[in-house]
Amino acid sequence: MKGLILSGGKGTRLYPLTYTRAKQLIPVANKPVLFRVIEMIRDAGIDEIGIVIGDTGPEIREAVGNGDRWGVKISYIPQDAPLGLAHAVKISRDFLGDDRFVMFLGDNVIEGGISPLIEQFATSEWNGQIVLKEVPDPQHFGVAELDGDGRIKQLIEKPEDPPSNLALVGIYMFDSNVFEAVDAIKPSWRGELEITDAIQWLVAHDEYRVYPYVHKGWWIDTGKPTDMLDANAFVLEELTPRIEGTVDAESLVDHRVTVEAGAEIVNSIVRGPSIIGKHTRIVNSFVGPFTSIYHDVTVHDSELERCIVLEHSQIVNVSSRLQDCIIGRYASIEQNGRKPKALRMNLGDYSKLWLP
Ligand code: TTP
Repeated sequence: MKGLILSGGKGTRLYPLTYTRAKQLIPVANKPVLFRVIEMIRDAGIDEIGIVIGDTGPEIREAVGNGDRWGVKISYIPQDAPLGLAHAVKISRDFLGDDRFVMFLGDNVIEGGISPLIEQFATSEWNGQIVLKEVPDPQHFGVAELDGDGRIKQLIEKPEDPPSNLALVGIYMFDSNVFEAVDAIKPSWRGELEITDAIQWLVAHDEYRVYPYVHKGWWIDTGKPTDMLDANAFVLEELTPRIEGTVDAESLVDHRVTVEAGAEIVNSIVRGPSIIGKHTRIVNSFVGPFTSIYHDVTVHDSELERCIVLEHSQIVNVSSRLQDCIIGRYASIEQNGRKPKALRMNLGDYSKLWLP
């Protein structure tokens, strides 16, 4: 069994962060989403993984390398343009050969416990397996309608009038018959070869068997900034805390906090679940729950809660509490007493700022 991770795409909904960084490399609880996906596939006993890459390919290659770090072998499959998930399968044919495979979207985060499902598929006779999740807004997803026996009746991509609330989660398992399906389908109205259409093609052909599995845990497609914050909160809840950095006697650090090596907490309060990255300094500050601060950040005389702060940023003397914020790399937020008492800023394209 092989693994296929889709890491092309543009990530437009995460601008401005994704102008300068592949969306799959944005960290959730201080680990890039893509690394979490690789670990999940590795934990299912798979050691050959192909990653489909687009414009951000060089950055992904550099961050992931050959897979030695995870004890897996990584191959890269360039995709000229994001022409759809089924298109990504099509161009991966040489890599996949006749093997069964599990395909993950490189920007999805899912609660653990999926490994047994993948291992079970590896030895089954089924032609495909899809993972479904009940969602409140199925019209935004590929949706499955099941019959009375729990088998798939039909699949529809982003239906106006959804026949169920079961969305397709970004994990799919196939055998090599999927190539017949992706060759048979035509691009959708949005010009993409849809994986939903390819699976529907298999479902409609009696000789193929595709089974649904309804996932009960959480699942987040980190398409939008609010999704990133939600995924961050879920993953932080699951972390086993560890203190590898230093915490001075004046600080109060909750038992659900991870302080990574070289980080320093000075005269500050840190409430969990949260994580403070390597060589980050938190001084005279408050860090509230559900916050991930990546490496080499400085937080001085400021308060944050439910935020993601990326590497090398600085937050200094900010008197209002920062909440629900995503702050990119090398960003600086600073308050000083100089006149005029005005807001000054250099915001990147598509940035958003909410003032109280
Ligand atoms: P999407 O979230 O559908 O697309 P996107 O990443 O371009 O984001 P946006 O809509 O904000 O512009 O993609 C899901 C995942 O699949 C993501 O990790 C990118 C990847 N992908 C490919 O690798 N190739 C493709 O052709 C497409 C459409 C997506």
